[in-house]
Amino acid sequence: MLLKPTRLLLLGAPGSGKGTISKRLLDNFTQLKSIASGDVLRTQISNGTSIGKKAETYLKSGALVPDIIMIDLITKQLKDQNLLQSNASWLLDGFPRTFNQAEQLTKVLEANNSNLNLVVELDVNQDIILQRIESRYVHLPSGRIYNLDYNPPREPFKDDITGEPLTKRDDDTAEVFSKRLDKYNEEIKPMREYFQHLGIWHKVSGNTSDIIYPKVEKLVISDN
Ligand code: AP5
Ligand code: MG
Repeated sequence: MLLKPTRLLLLGAPGSGKGTISKRLLDNFTQLKSIASGDVLRTQISNGTSIGKKAETYLKSGALVPDIIMIDLITKQLKDQNLLQSNASWLLDGFPRTFNQAEQLTKVLEANNSNLNLVVELDVNQDIILQRIESRYVHLPSGRIYNLDYNPPREPFKDDITGEPLTKRDDDTAEVFSKRLDKYNEEIKPMREYFQHLGIWHKVSGNTSDIIYPKVEKLVISDN
């Protein structure tokens, strides 16, 4: 149970477990809402919107979608879900991803009296990440994530809730994935320094989400 509003960013390399940790936080803190930038983009693509059409080539190649599109898209999501109210509790998974996005987000939040209180960087060994991605399957319409070894679906290759087929993400090929990792490693340093300077940055290390999750939960509770 959260006593005061929590506004949390989950940063971490592709495959570090941002989606997995988000789900556990949402299950345990019912006031929390989440926005996962990759899921928002994949929905825009599957709905064939103009943003989706612009974003598709970036996702397929493992490049970042331009800042201007992302900042507008995520700000709109926050507004539409009433998350810019100062009493709302939420987490963002996958946004911000560049220094510019971090700065612009901070400005939007400041203008709405809803400053961030926690930024958590998930730190997982990159060799482990590569192994995980090979066995990741997703239910695209909901964003539910599975792993053939770690959290397999009850029925092989079927979503637990809808029974619909699971698929591989287009950007989970070895070649595209290594581009995404390189991009992450390039962008994270200035963002980390920015949030360190604001005094809200924490790093949580571990090679499984079972080790990482309790540490993240402890940070959320002790900040509250
Ligand atoms: P996005 O969808 O955000 O992808 P990502 O950041 O690359 O991260 P992933 O979703 O791949 O990994 P995750 O950290 O959520 O890990 P997961 O929990 O699935 O973005 C996709 C693309 O959209 C970007 O490349 C870019 O083009 C664009 N984009 C998005 N946001 C943007 C932005 N802000 N600016 C510009 N462009 C943007 O876990 C991974 C796997 O590991 C799963 O199979 C999981 O089951 C498994 N797993 C988790 N924990 C364990 C464990 N303990 N043991 C074993 N397996 C585990
Ligand atoms: Mg994810």
